[in-house]
Amino acid sequence: MNDPAPDSELQCLPFSRDHVLDMSPQVRRLQERQPIARVRTLVGDPAWLVTGYEYVRTLFNDDRLGRSHPCPESAARITRSALLGGPTGDHETEKTDHLRMRKLLAPAFSARRVRSLEPFINDLVDTTLDRLASLAPPVDLRAELCFRLPVQVICELMGVPFSERETFQDWAHELGNVSVPGAADGAFANFYGYMREIVEAKRDKPGDDIISELLAVAPKWNVSADYVAGIAVFLLAAGHETTVAYLGFGILHLLTDNAQRQAVVEDPGLVPGVVEEILRIVTLGSTGLPRYAQSDIEIGGVRIRAGDAVLLAPTVANRDPCAFEDPDAFDVARKPTNHHLAFGYGPRLCPGSHLARAEMTAVFGKLFQRFPGLRLAVPLEELERDRTNMQEGLTRLPVTWDDI
Ligand code: HEM
Repeated sequence: MNDPAPDSELQCLPFSRDHVLDMSPQVRRLQERQPIARVRTLVGDPAWLVTGYEYVRTLFNDDRLGRSHPCPESAARITRSALLGGPTGDHETEKTDHLRMRKLLAPAFSARRVRSLEPFINDLVDTTLDRLASLAPPVDLRAELCFRLPVQVICELMGVPFSERETFQDWAHELGNVSVPGAADGAFANFYGYMREIVEAKRDKPGDDIISELLAVAPKWNVSADYVAGIAVFLLAAGHETTVAYLGFGILHLLTDNAQRQAVVEDPGLVPGVVEEILRIVTLGSTGLPRYAQSDIEIGGVRIRAGDAVLLAPTVANRDPCAFEDPDAFDVARKPTNHHLAFGYGPRLCPGSHLARAEMTAVFGKLFQRFPGLRLAVPLEELERDRTNMQEGLTRLPVTWDDI
């Protein structure tokens, strides 16, 4: 077993980047030298940061890691958010609670259901691009496409009025706030209150939507309307926040690489590969996905002790040279099959992956065909990531185009 560095010498999160599209050089060094490294979290507590592809994949699937902790008040904390910055759930019942949640959600986002939604998503992308074409450039594409589309899709699916997005969009974003104490919790309380009213209305008058479906099966799974409202908050937020970030960075990769963008315009058959390459290359925030060891785990020459915090970093693992040739190159024709971990792996594999892929496929199959002259309206160096948020998505994406 290797001895971890003394706690006084641990590297501290967050790690800085030189460029908005690049991975932090500090993380790259850790990945090369210590793919499972002891670090300090955003609040200064010790945790294991896992950046090596094989280790991240193995630990995603290891049931000795969970989200709960036997003594939550003494557990290492990841961020200042009371909601997402430490252990969650009941330590005694975590596995059964999680399994129930997965079973409850399975029909809502199944591959079959998403396939049936594809015509709707394609039409929505067309309408969104028509609307974009009617605006006078420069335009913030983050607001007008990357945000607008996934929110409209998830609102439609869940039966939440898109016209009320201004009520909840800041709450959804603030759920991921990792720097202001209490921000995420305040946002959750407001969002939950809003969703509780929607749930109540759907109890009286069910519609053709996921919230009504969840309410219909709630008795079978022995869950309350309050539980459905809580899940609905997370679904509405998870159902667009990450997709917004991936659309933004994906478009930016193509805006800064004319040859690959041209290749995609000329050969629509490349679109599925483009989507997978974007999912692989985008690195989101540096906090990693939190877990707590439920028992001692020996892996990669280190001993993770029961109760230790572990941060799994799939978007860093997706740039591991041991798993991908030339990992920092954006290559729309990457082969063989792109086995990235963007949606996680194992029991918590993202249930929204089919939906996210369908939205990305529609956007990357249409955007550059419709706007062949699309380009950044500001120098690349002026673009920023939102460092207060765990996603670290783009704050804005100003673009312009020639007359179409
Ligand atoms: C590009 C878009 C997306 C990416 C990259 C993404 C990524 C992820 C990842 C990595 C996880 C695993 C978290 C962990 O292991 O701790 C996850 C979980 C989850 N995602 Fe997504 N996601 C995306 C879109 C969506 C959408 C559209 C939805 C819903 C409609 C969604 C709903 C969820 C839910 C409910 C979980 C929790 C699953 C569980 O704990 O078992 N995601 N997502």
